[in-house]
Amino acid sequence: MGERTPAQTTASEHVRVPDSHRRTIAVDGSAASGKSTIGRRLAEQLGYAFLDTGVMYRAVTHAALERGLSLGNSAAIGELAQTLPIDVSLDCGGSGTRVTIDGSDVTSHLRSQPVEDAVSIVSRIAAVRDALVSRQRQFAERQPIVMAGRDIGTVVLPDADLKLYLDASIEERARRRYADFLAAGNEVSQEIVLEDIRRRDRIDSEREVSPLRPADDAVIINTDGLSLDQVMDRVNSLVRGDE
Ligand code: DC
Repeated sequence: MGERTPAQTTASEHVRVPDSHRRTIAVDGSAASGKSTIGRRLAEQLGYAFLDTGVMYRAVTHAALERGLSLGNSAAIGELAQTLPIDVSLDCGGSGTRVTIDGSDVTSHLRSQPVEDAVSIVSRIAAVRDALVSRQRQFAERQPIVMAGRDIGTVVLPDADLKLYLDASIEERARRRYADFLAAGNEVSQEIVLEDIRRRDRIDSEREVSPLRPADDAVIINTDGLSLDQVMDRVNSLVRGDE
C-alpha cells in the first residue's frame, strides 16, 4: 500500500507538541461520533497524516460485493482482504483520503448503501482485521499520524502517545449523520439513519474480535451538546498535555 508524504509542517500556531512526543494519536469512537472530523482537523493542525481506517474496511466490503462473494463466506472474504491490492493515499493537509483497488479509484463507492449495509459484517471477520491491522501499523511506522477507527487504541496502536475515545448519544449521532446526508443531497429518513446507527453499534460492540470499546488509558470525550470548536479546544489541551 502506498501513501503520500505528509505535509512537512510542524505543530501549528495553536498546538505545540514536543518533537519526541505524540507521534501517534488514536481517535476511536462509535459510528458518527465525529472521530473522522476531529481526527482530520487535529492532523491538519499538527501537520500529521490522517488515516480513517473505516475506509479500508469499506474498500474490502466494496470489493467483496463487486465479486459477488456471499457475506457468510468468511474464508473467501478473509482471503480477499489478504491479497487485495488496496492503495490508500493518506490524507495530508486536508487533501482527502483516496482509495484505489488494482489501480481503480473506488473512493466514491465507499459510502454507497450496499457498503453501509455490509461493512459491519465484513469487519467481524478475523482474517480481514489481521490483514488491515498490519497495514495500518505500517502507516504509523512511517510518519506521525492521527488514526481514527474502532480499535486503534486497543489493538492497532496500543502504545499510541495519546488515545481519544469520542462518544455521543445515539440521537445526537443520528442527527449529525442525517445532516451530513442532507448536505450531500441524499434523501433519507431520520428514522432509518438512527436505526442503521443502532444496528452498527450493536454489531461493532458485540463482535468477538476487537469489539468497539475504549482503551483503559483512553480519554473519553462525550461530545453531546458540544460544538466542533469546543471539542477541538478540549482535544488541543490534551495534546498539549495541559490536562
Ligand atoms: O468509521 P466507519 O463508519 O467508516 O466504519 C465502517 C465500519 O468499519 C464500521 O461498521 C466498523 C468497521 N471498522 C472497524 O471495525 N474497525 C476500524 N478500525 C474502523 C472501522
